[in-house]
Amino acid sequence: MFVLIWTTLLFSVRDITADTGASVKEHCDKEFCITLSKGEITAEAGLCVVIPCSFTTPSGFRPKHMVWFKCEPYQTKCEDSEVIHTDKNNKVQSGFKGRVSLLEPDVSLGNCSIIINDLTEADSGSYQLRVQSWSNGGFTFSPRANVSVKGLTQKPTVMIPPLTEGQQTTLTCTAPGLCSGSDPNITWTWRGAGEKHSHITGNITAVTQRQSSTLTFNSSAEQHGTDVTCKVSFTNNITTEETVTLNVTLYPKILNSSKCEVQSGVLTCVCISEGFPLPTINWPLLETHTEYSVLTTVSNHTVSSIVTLTVKDHSNTVTECVSRSEVGEVQHKVTIVISERREGEHSHT
Ligand SMILES: *[C@@H]1O[C@H](CO)[C@@H](O)[C@H](O)[C@H]1NC(C)=O
Ligand SMILES: *[C@@H]1O[C@H](CO)[C@@H](O)[C@H](O)[C@H]1NC(C)=O
Ligand SMILES: *[C@@H]1O[C@H](CO)[C@@H](O)[C@H](O)[C@H]1NC(C)=O
Ligand SMILES: *[C@@H]1O[C@H](CO)[C@@H](O)[C@H](O)[C@H]1NC(C)=O
Ligand SMILES: *[C@@H]1O[C@H](CO)[C@@H](O)[C@H](O)[C@H]1NC(C)=O
Ligand SMILES: *[C@@H]1O[C@H](CO)[C@@H](O)[C@H](O)[C@H]1NC(C)=O
Ligand SMILES: *[C@@H]1O[C@H](CO)[C@@H](O)[C@H](O)[C@H]1NC(C)=O
Ligand SMILES: *[C@@H]1O[C@H](CO)[C@@H](O)[C@H](O)[C@H]1NC(C)=O
Ligand SMILES: *[C@@H]1O[C@H](CO)[C@@H](O)[C@H](O)[C@H]1NC(C)=O
Repeated sequence: MFVLIWTTLLFSVRDITADTGASVKEHCDKEFCITLSKGEITAEAGLCVVIPCSFTTPSGFRPKHMVWFKCEPYQTKCEDSEVIHTDKNNKVQSGFKGRVSLLEPDVSLGNCSIIINDLTEADSGSYQLRVQSWSNGGFTFSPRANVSVKGLTQKPTVMIPPLTEGQQTTLTCTAPGLCSGSDPNITWTWRGAGEKHSHITGNITAVTQRQSSTLTFNSSAEQHGTDVTCKVSFTNNITTEETVTLNVTLYPKILNSSKCEVQSGVLTCVCISEGFPLPTINWPLLETHTEYSVLTTVSNHTVSSIVTLTVKDHSNTVTECVSRSEVGEVQHKVTIVISERREGEHSHT
């Protein structure tokens, strides 16, 4: 145990697990100490990455400003030309201009954390810190932070409130990542359920504000099943999108093709209703009958009910159908069509 402690102190490398759970490592060389994340920092193209970093210097060294370099991990040391952030913008490699910021500009606090925005996969590599002193000298820390940038896999978040026929609706799409870089472009597209033309027509308002965009329209029955896609484009043609299907609550609606027919004393009534959620169909006239048959068929958002019963006298029969769902109820008087067969037609059966 004793030996182990001494070994640790000799190399002066400490493993610290911060409160956040992220593991960091402190490395010291002649009283110049730097603390970086242990292992590789991963990020996604189009988004941003924070390189957490802190340092301390010997008491005689007065830090003036910080210089960050980026190079390939196989290089023993980053070149002087490989500057990505310093106090003078003209010394920065063109690809990094305006993309790198210090989280804490006051160098005396020893916080060397940086954020890099508008990432591309080419930003993968080793990042090295140099601290410049007031007395013209400086110190370059040998440990480097390793960053790996992968393709963008995060998707935008699309929020849909419950949609109800006839009511104004606002969808919200939020870009992934919480980055301070360039604002992405956000676009909306949609495709009707029948893959034909869009049903979101007329008054659509799309408002984009920094990381999110809203789409406002009046919901209608035709929009039910429409696929709406929100596409987010970051710089360098890095895009990600999310598609949602609209579910519009549709009040039950009894179609005019509903009808009743009397033939040889047999009453056959058909009632067809549409709605979402799917409505049910009831026949109040059945309450006074004890023998009948009901056939219900469902197709997508349409339910049809066919009732067959024997009636002695249909003239005072109320043929009403009632369609109901959790959002509403509708009644419809179904007219009776008398269709007495002519004698000649019997010969066919
Ligand atoms: C970064 O990668 C280099 C080379 O693979 C490695 O020597 C170094 O320890 C890594 N740095 C960190 C902070 O993990
Ligand atoms: C560095 O400064 C940033 C911004 O103020 C802060 O979020 C971060 O925790 C600081 N890091 C350290 C190691 O103090
Ligand atoms: C479109 O919507 C806006 C805001 O809701 C409203 O002011 C405008 O009158 C609408 N235009 C039409 C043609 O409905
Ligand atoms: C929605 O419809 C209402 C009334 O029909 C109208 O006042 C409003 O402008 C419409 N809004 C949109 C975005 O079309
Ligand atoms: C957004 O679109 C504008 C105009 O089409 C374009 O100039 C700009 O570069 C785009 N921004 C991004 C982040 O793609
Ligand atoms: C971005 O994508 C568009 C269409 O996909 C293409 O026309 C354009 O050339 C691309 N721009 C770059 C810089 O790759
Ligand atoms: C719409 O309804 C279908 C099934 O009824 C469900 O699978 C889907 O998740 C719903 N979509 C939304 C956006 O609520
Ligand atoms: C059904 O008929 C009524 C009255 O005859 C009419 O107002 C309504 O528009 C019709 N509905 C449909 C879906 O055809
Ligand atoms: C039911 O929905 C499916 C898929 O949305 C569609 O292909 C089919 O034509 C619909 N059937 C009817 C009877 O509308």
